[in-house]
Amino acid sequence: MVRCVRVPKREGEQVRSKLFAEGMLDLGARIRSDGDCLLIPVLCESYPGYEIMDADLDVQEQRSTDYREVAEVPEDLRDDLPSSFDVVGDVAMIKLPDELKPYASQIGDALLKVNRSIRIVFEDHGVKGEFRIRDLERIAGEGTSETVHREFGVRLYTDPARVYFNPRLSSERARIAGLVTEGETVIDMFGGVAPFGTVMCRLAHPKVVYSIDLNPDAEHFARMNAERNHISNLHPMTGDSSNLVYGLPMANRIIMNLPQIADRFLPIALERLEHGGTIHMYKIIEREDFPPFLERLVSDAASDGHDISIEYSELKTYSPTMSVYSLDIKKA
Ligand SMILES: C[S@@+](CC[C@H](N)C(=O)[O-])C[C@H]1O[C@@H](n2cnc3c(N)ncnc32)[C@H](O)[C@@H]1O
Repeated sequence: MVRCVRVPKREGEQVRSKLFAEGMLDLGARIRSDGDCLLIPVLCESYPGYEIMDADLDVQEQRSTDYREVAEVPEDLRDDLPSSFDVVGDVAMIKLPDELKPYASQIGDALLKVNRSIRIVFEDHGVKGEFRIRDLERIAGEGTSETVHREFGVRLYTDPARVYFNPRLSSERARIAGLVTEGETVIDMFGGVAPFGTVMCRLAHPKVVYSIDLNPDAEHFARMNAERNHISNLHPMTGDSSNLVYGLPMANRIIMNLPQIADRFLPIALERLEHGGTIHMYKIIEREDFPPFLERLVSDAASDGHDISIEYSELKTYSPTMSVYSLDIKKA
């Protein structure tokens, strides 16, 4: 039997919310109907204006939302379970330390159990090669790794096993879209499935966005993203951007998301950028090396005849000593 308060149905929600706010709602039992009243389980002995009684209420099952609580792994390894993992659309990808690899399928099952929006789980063996593609191994769930990721009302079709895609850059994509003024010509030199271009074309009004990638699968998904989001001014292209940019109009804005080596392409980008334009470059670097790196960018640009100024922010920590920086490089 559970202590509960008997409330006319029309007042039910108001009383339930008040009890919840006061910490008096018993979350261990389920509210049930009793004629034209509701029986709401409570933790108090009386409630002014309403009848208190004992009733037989069903137990409310508490569903965990943390896969670490339900994963069937030895107790001494539970603390080693990763606290974070990536989700792209309905695909989850998790990196596992060596000691947890024998329990990969149990970990995948736990992720599926607590996250109803996840369809399939992969162990993520890291990003590899020139195309920066993740090496993925299915550990639970059904189907393929092809999926649709939604951000800011935009549908991004992708396949994390065939093309690089980073769901954690959504705020950065929105930030850059917010900087785009009407009629700009934009080039994304390392465009992937064109998440920057697609979000930008939906949230802003560039004249045209060229999204280049070496990986032909990137162009396939970028075209799909343009089409399914009803965009006609996004032009995906396959090839080496250091060559292809010379066949394109000069840009007002250039995106360079190849954080290991993007700076090697900076002289080319500066050459193809209009005066007054901006380059958004990402860089992974040792934190202590970042100030001299900035100085070198400015002096190298000056030797090529470009007057640049740089604003930057530290996007995230990459390792104990390294960070990913976002640089807005303006050409005077
Ligand atoms: C880190 S990913 C970024 C993809 C995309 N901008 C995003 O945010 O999802 C870098 C991409 O650059 C592509 N890439 C590498 N070298 C390139 C080059 N020389 N020209 C064009 N694309 C290149 C890779 O295939 C990869 O898709």
